[in-house]
Amino acid sequence: MKNMNGIIWMNCVESTNNETRKRISELDNLSVLSASVQTKGRGQGDNIWQSEDGKNLLLSIVLKFGNNITERFQAYDQFAISQMAALTIVDFLAEHGINAAIKWPNDIYVNEKKICGILIEASIRGEWLSNAIIGIGLNINQKNFDVSIPNPTSLSIETAVEEYDLQDSLAELVTIFRRYWKRYFNIDGGLNRLNKMYLSHLWRKDEIHKYIDINENKTFDGMIIGLSNIGRLVIKDIDTGQTKEYGFKEIGYII
Ligand code: BTN
Repeated sequence: MKNMNGIIWMNCVESTNNETRKRISELDNLSVLSASVQTKGRGQGDNIWQSEDGKNLLLSIVLKFGNNITERFQAYDQFAISQMAALTIVDFLAEHGINAAIKWPNDIYVNEKKICGILIEASIRGEWLSNAIIGIGLNINQKNFDVSIPNPTSLSIETAVEEYDLQDSLAELVTIFRRYWKRYFNIDGGLNRLNKMYLSHLWRKDEIHKYIDINENKTFDGMIIGLSNIGRLVIKDIDTGQTKEYGFKEIGYII
């Protein structure tokens, strides 16, 4: 285990999010725990996260909040954490010449293929966040994927660069995230600016596509028009003209 610049490198863990949760009391705000291999990588919901050993970035970023006015963060605003994480990946990929989009809530897509998944696990005390763990799985050097993974891609596939240095890539990504944190966390107007940037990279925004309303079990032609103030997706039904807000697992994208 190595620790440089607040970045811990481990060889093999169950899941970087689980390992970070275990060590949370000894980790500083904005520190990072990364691993070459996960034996029980987790995705959203009941999904698993598969990654070929030593090929990709698997990391968790620690956020710790305090009680005073400069250190506290309302649970109500927690979607801003997803936004910063997603924008970090978009910027990281842009630095490598790749134009990426954010598939709400926080998958990162390149040319209709998924390059990165984000799993945020927050601890809430009353109306405030006490800490949050941002788990990021970003495909970097993997070329072949299990057939069970829908539409995967990696940086190396997209750029045709044979191999990236994972430690350098991680250092770049962490620098970008820490910069977002400094610029937007508890800064006047920060969340609004973040929201605008997030919307400008939102996949399928203002386009007509087919969606499934999962609660109503109905397929419809819809247009993503924005987000509610707690980060729910707002879609306009093209036939009825009505708009509706959806939470995660309430809307399916037909790809
Ligand atoms: C998803 O798209 O479903 C989210 C995937 C999140 C995967 C990352 S890999 C590092 C961290 N540790 C985990 O177990 N999961 C996240």
